[in-house]
Amino acid sequence: MAAAAGILLPPLLLLLLLTSAALGGEPAYSCGPRSPTAGQYYAFCDARLPAARRAADLVRRMTAAEKVAQLGDEAGGVARLGVPGYKWWSEGLHGLSYWGHGMHFNGSVTGITSFPQVLLTAAAFDDNLWFRIGQAIGTEARALYNLGQAEGLTIWSPNVNIYRDPRWGRGQETPGEDPTTASKYAVAFVKGLQGSSPGVLQTSACCKHATAYDLEDWNGIARYNFNARVTAQDLADTFNPPFKSCVVDGKASCVMCAYTDINGVPACASSDLLTRTFRGEWGLDGYVSSDCDAVALMRDAQRYAPTPEDTVAVAMKAGLDLNCGTYTQEHGMSALQQGKLSEKDVDRALTNLFAVRMRLGHFDGDPRSNAAYGHLGAADVCTQAHKNLALEAAQDGIVLLKNDAGILPLDRAAVASAAVIGPNGNDPAALNGNYFGPPCETTTPLQGIQRYVTRVTFHSGCGSPACGFAATAQASAIAGSSDYVILFMGLSQDQEKEGLDRTSLLLPGKQQSLIEAIAAASKRPVILVLLTGGPVDVTFAKNNPKIGAILWAGYPGQAGGLAIARVLFGDHNPSGRLPVTWYPEEFTKIPMTDMRMRADPATGYPGRSYRFYQGNPVYKFGYGLSYSKFSRKVVSRASANRPGRPNRNLLAGLIPKPAADGGESYHVEEIGENGCEKLKFPVAVEVHNHGPMDGKHSVLMFVRWPNATTGVSRPASQLVGFSSQHVKVGEKTKVEMEINPCEHLSRAREDGKKVIDRGSHFLKVGEEDDEWEISFDA
Ligand SMILES: *[C@@H]1O[C@H](CO)[C@@H](O)[C@H](O)[C@H]1NC(C)=O
Ligand SMILES: *[C@@H]1O[C@H](CO)[C@@H](O)[C@H](O)[C@H]1NC(C)=O
Repeated sequence: MAAAAGILLPPLLLLLLLTSAALGGEPAYSCGPRSPTAGQYYAFCDARLPAARRAADLVRRMTAAEKVAQLGDEAGGVARLGVPGYKWWSEGLHGLSYWGHGMHFNGSVTGITSFPQVLLTAAAFDDNLWFRIGQAIGTEARALYNLGQAEGLTIWSPNVNIYRDPRWGRGQETPGEDPTTASKYAVAFVKGLQGSSPGVLQTSACCKHATAYDLEDWNGIARYNFNARVTAQDLADTFNPPFKSCVVDGKASCVMCAYTDINGVPACASSDLLTRTFRGEWGLDGYVSSDCDAVALMRDAQRYAPTPEDTVAVAMKAGLDLNCGTYTQEHGMSALQQGKLSEKDVDRALTNLFAVRMRLGHFDGDPRSNAAYGHLGAADVCTQAHKNLALEAAQDGIVLLKNDAGILPLDRAAVASAAVIGPNGNDPAALNGNYFGPPCETTTPLQGIQRYVTRVTFHSGCGSPACGFAATAQASAIAGSSDYVILFMGLSQDQEKEGLDRTSLLLPGKQQSLIEAIAAASKRPVILVLLTGGPVDVTFAKNNPKIGAILWAGYPGQAGGLAIARVLFGDHNPSGRLPVTWYPEEFTKIPMTDMRMRADPATGYPGRSYRFYQGNPVYKFGYGLSYSKFSRKVVSRASANRPGRPNRNLLAGLIPKPAADGGESYHVEEIGENGCEKLKFPVAVEVHNHGPMDGKHSVLMFVRWPNATTGVSRPASQLVGFSSQHVKVGEKTKVEMEINPCEHLSRAREDGKKVIDRGSHFLKVGEEDDEWEISFDA
């Protein structure tokens, strides 16, 4: 009945109906009983057909004007076909977010679970944790959608750009500087976000910003006009792997191209990247979106094409499906009329776009009757399980950088009074990082410590982390009269965020002098907790004996204050390890615009990340202390392709070729997919907790090449795998990792091709531990 009435309604009234449904606490959707499609067969409403076919059927029915209206993040509706408007842009970096246009927190749900900012979560080196966080965020998004508080389910997260330069304001959003970590993060998070229900996406994830983007604004050069000069080698082994894993293994349904010009071509105008690589080589099943206003900037900032129509055409012909912004919607029609763009190009984009909306179930009638996700509602947001997960993530990420004379953990019975000092000590905003939403509850560090100590005195020390003025005398007096002193210093979004890079790695303003004065005035060595995204040069604190302990707590999310207190008082044994190198201040002498990863000793260029940096870091990648002592040992030697004896038959069929930088190597392409499959072997590592406290330990396995120092082309070492395990005092646990020689033991040549060197490779699981030799010889 409703269906019959629907067909008779004029389009305007229908539009009103659809719109009011969206605002009235109901999700917007197509192909329902009130839709004009009801009562007739439309292939695009037929859930039994593949998404791409349904999408093609819908696109076929649309006029050119209706099609062009789809090309921006706020897509128009097609009332006569019962298709509501759609907001493509939502964010879920570490919880649903105010950023974007798709999510509203003004209905029955007003708060969401705010997980730690990604860089801290990365420090847990635990892909199962990353998966569960993605899953929780996806669940909360679905709940919002069912409640009519989300106008889309396409989430433009994660950010898996390599954190190349420590000054980058958005480094906090990423899983760090290592391509293996970023790749594993991408896969786990995307799988969580997109869900595992066959045939229907929980939400759609988007890997951004491809590729080689990590600069906001340096010395007058902005991300909008920066031409990144990147070598094929750095693209192959540093910048692209996270995106490749995201698409190939994570099955992400979207990739976002960056603002960056890569070797003179804007990423979003590069058919080599968008079409040949994402779709062709990696098999992207989904859509390609631009970063916001990237298409407009191609003309306005980058002068890449002469007219708006040419610009729209060059981007879409390169393989762009969606433009964040309105530029393509504004100029698409005239580009068609001028023949610069063909309707075929538009149809390809629309088919990709609608296929994702089909996979989200937006064309299957009321999504609240969806078997997998239809039941989700307000009760599934900020559940106890999600809150616990936010606490777990913060606890597991926190990195203990210094603990002289075992000042930590504190014995709560012995702490009669505590001074909590610093601008990050009691500011809920300091927990968020960027891309946040409204947390459903918050515990600041001060509140966390108050759960353990009754006599706590708080002083902010300075008004904000900028710390232009410090109340040194007052803060020192409080410190001097307290049993223990805990400082909460670091950075805030006023120093590092989207659009804002740092120029110095030192603590801002008067922070250092304030910390030193307080340390000097205190009875015991003080505890310094740093809330920052990016690394800071705290050499002064590392060397100061009156600073007994240093912790890095990132931007730890809603449960951050509790997580920190639990670590300080030994209810949680820290196991986080730095996902990024902490460079000394002198690193800022090199231009941020120099994209090279590899060192150039001839000019004094030091290289970047633990893989290539030749200077002395303040703290190394992978560094992190525990309250317990762990040892690791490689134990498995019982595989067919075991180290020292790789599959000889396989390699014997191949002839190693002389490599330009000495030695001989096998080409991964020639080994082939099947060959690579056969070369894989498992490695088991035994982890022993020597005490005195139960805790988690993350085993990081690196490969080292013997000739690393003779040329600049190989990394000094490369992380190949990691695994995080809880181990009780006195116990031993085994962790398994799979080594895929084609991926893990290969290296990228200057032309970007992967080769495995003939001869020895060494696997190691710790500084002091034995190396394990693997030899590839014909
Ligand atoms: C919530 O906010 C959105 C976006 O501003 C708005 O369109 C919607 O009407 C609001 N809903 C309610 C119930 O106020
Ligand atoms: C480096 O490579 C060359 C050429 O293959 C080889 O002869 C030499 O032994 C290697 N050096 C080391 C330290 O392994």
